[in-house]
Amino acid sequence: MADLRLNLAGIESPNPFWLASAPPTNSGYQVQRAFEAGWGGAVWKTLGDPILNVSSRFAGVSFNGQNMAGFNNIELITDRPLEVNLKEIYETKKRFPNHAIIASLMVEPTQEKWHEIVKRVEEVGVDGLELNFGCPHGMAERGMGAASGQVPELVEKQTMWAKEAAETPVIVKLTPNITDITFTAEAAVRGGADAVSMINTINSLAGVDIDSWDTIPNVAGKGAHGGYCGPAVKPIALNMVAECARHRNINVPISGMGGVSSWREAVEFMLMGATGVQVCTAAMHHGFSIVEDMKDGLNNYLDDKGIGSVMDLVGKSVERYSDWGNLDLNHQIVAKINNDVCINCNKCHIACEDTSHQCIDMLKDENGNDILRVREEDCVGCNLCSIVCPVDGAIDMVDYDNGKPPMTWNERQAAIGATASCDVKLVK
Ligand SMILES: Cc1cc2nc3c(=O)[nH]c(=O)nc-3n(C[C@H](O)[C@H](O)[C@H](O)COP(=O)(O)O)c2cc1C
Repeated sequence: MADLRLNLAGIESPNPFWLASAPPTNSGYQVQRAFEAGWGGAVWKTLGDPILNVSSRFAGVSFNGQNMAGFNNIELITDRPLEVNLKEIYETKKRFPNHAIIASLMVEPTQEKWHEIVKRVEEVGVDGLELNFGCPHGMAERGMGAASGQVPELVEKQTMWAKEAAETPVIVKLTPNITDITFTAEAAVRGGADAVSMINTINSLAGVDIDSWDTIPNVAGKGAHGGYCGPAVKPIALNMVAECARHRNINVPISGMGGVSSWREAVEFMLMGATGVQVCTAAMHHGFSIVEDMKDGLNNYLDDKGIGSVMDLVGKSVERYSDWGNLDLNHQIVAKINNDVCINCNKCHIACEDTSHQCIDMLKDENGNDILRVREEDCVGCNLCSIVCPVDGAIDMVDYDNGKPPMTWNERQAAIGATASCDVKLVK
């Protein structure tokens, strides 16, 4: 059995699966049940001045029969009094001393408010703090959440204020609603953050009811932008984690989240630089018990790979992620159709013919049967045919030796002595 124990900036937990700050961590009752079910840590639903919530507040985005492929909400931070939350945090920590409890915090951007809330939550024994600079709606209109989190100077200053008072590690949770998340991640590091976490939810409108013309969700016929999360956002979150992980000034651990539903995404996030993951939507969709499969799957994966500790996964793929200019322009792959597996549905032919490079021919074999064949010399190796193919193993993408030596765009430009035509800073 591999060692699943996690250490994120000094915060220890029995496994890398934490519940994210959200409805599943709203109360002591829930967090205690989550720990009983096997979760390693929980970031408590964001504390601050309690607010009033609206009804309704969630919307699911289904895709091809999958409920909650995406999930949208207009819920705000905790609507329960601070004293009640603090009492329940204290009780939960007493019952589960080895599990990680992190208090998520959001207050008005003043030094006094940050000092006050940090002291109050640390008194009840939390293992760490997560500063919520991410919620895109409601609180942002009041100058908090994403409104702070989109301005690097405010992230830096507030992180500093929290750090001045904090004795436990400070994690800064970042908003994805920004052009380049490394700007705010760097600001958090400058402010003294012990770790960063990402992503909070993405600005979104789940839909419009085409019969009533109301937005989804709506409150008495009116809607407002919400935050998007769940499986649909994973690629966006993974890129943001990766960009921070490979940034030379962002040298603190990253807690990754956004679309983690199984051990597989957890492994992906950790390979891409995350020290553990947080989960919200998947727990809301399937309940706390999904963590059992997550832990089993992760254990088996580590055992199969001969890896002793989950911490050894962290960042292993980061150096394989680079700028486009460092990719080998001369590397080539081509599609190979396995005619004994192919069902001749022609989806690859149509995709290639209509939208790619017209290199899949419809032919007859020696017995007069329809077959599809790739003209390798015209294939650009775009992958589209294998992506649209409905049959596993019917199309392989294989290496093609074009006899050219490796050469990147950057090398090519250097070789011809080209200089950039204008001095632009690339944002990712
Ligand atoms: C209904 C709902 C409420 C949320 N409330 C909070 C919150 O109070 N504080 C916070 O930092 N993030 C909040 N989040 C964001 C999650 O913590 C998490 O960053 C996001 O959902 C991405 O993870 P997921 O794809 O696993 O859901 C909320 C998310 C949802 C769906």
